[in-house]
Amino acid sequence: MLDNDIQEILFTEEQLKNRVAEIARQIEADYAGKEVMLISVLRGSFIFMADLCRAIRLPCTLDFMSVSSYGAGTTSSGQVQITKDLSEDITGRHVIVVEDILDSGNTLSYLLNILEHRRPASVRLCTLLDKPERRVKPVELHYAGFTIPDAFVVGYGLDYAEKYRNLPYIGILKPEVYGGK
Ligand code: PRP
Repeated sequence: MLDNDIQEILFTEEQLKNRVAEIARQIEADYAGKEVMLISVLRGSFIFMADLCRAIRLPCTLDFMSVSSYGAGTTSSGQVQITKDLSEDITGRHVIVVEDILDSGNTLSYLLNILEHRRPASVRLCTLLDKPERRVKPVELHYAGFTIPDAFVVGYGLDYAEKYRNLPYIGILKPEVYGGK
């Protein structure tokens, strides 16, 4: 059982659903009368993206990109590479980057910089989870679902060694699973 590896449930399915709806209402208010383009950064954000886009009642397009950031162990680094670029042109569009977690900020500061150079009408960041304790690069964050402590979280898209993404809730992984303390 996957659940046996979970130490504690941080956010239940219902809590996630309610928070996603609140974020959607905020986005609808901020972009009233506009069309938004949601960009999901794969793979962690795919479930959040799927729920968020269905909760937003605005004209909306979707696109996906993939990045890899190389770093030691559980930390990303400043060296980020685009491994799958967007299919659409973002020039003149109101872009919202949808992420599962903002951690050190390395990935997002790099990515947001690249996107801004493509001359969108605007770019904002929406992340389900924010772990401010670990930030090393400042990143402007417009929509955040939950602020979390520095714990190893999985589920609702987030993985450890590619597993646990399919858990419907977000939980803290037992340290013995990843060899931590
Ligand atoms: C996670 C997350 C962000 C990044 C945040 O992706 O989706 O892209 O790490 O970390 P940072 O703020 O320290 O840069 P991950 O590399 O785990 O890939 P995944 O989305 O495919 O799981």
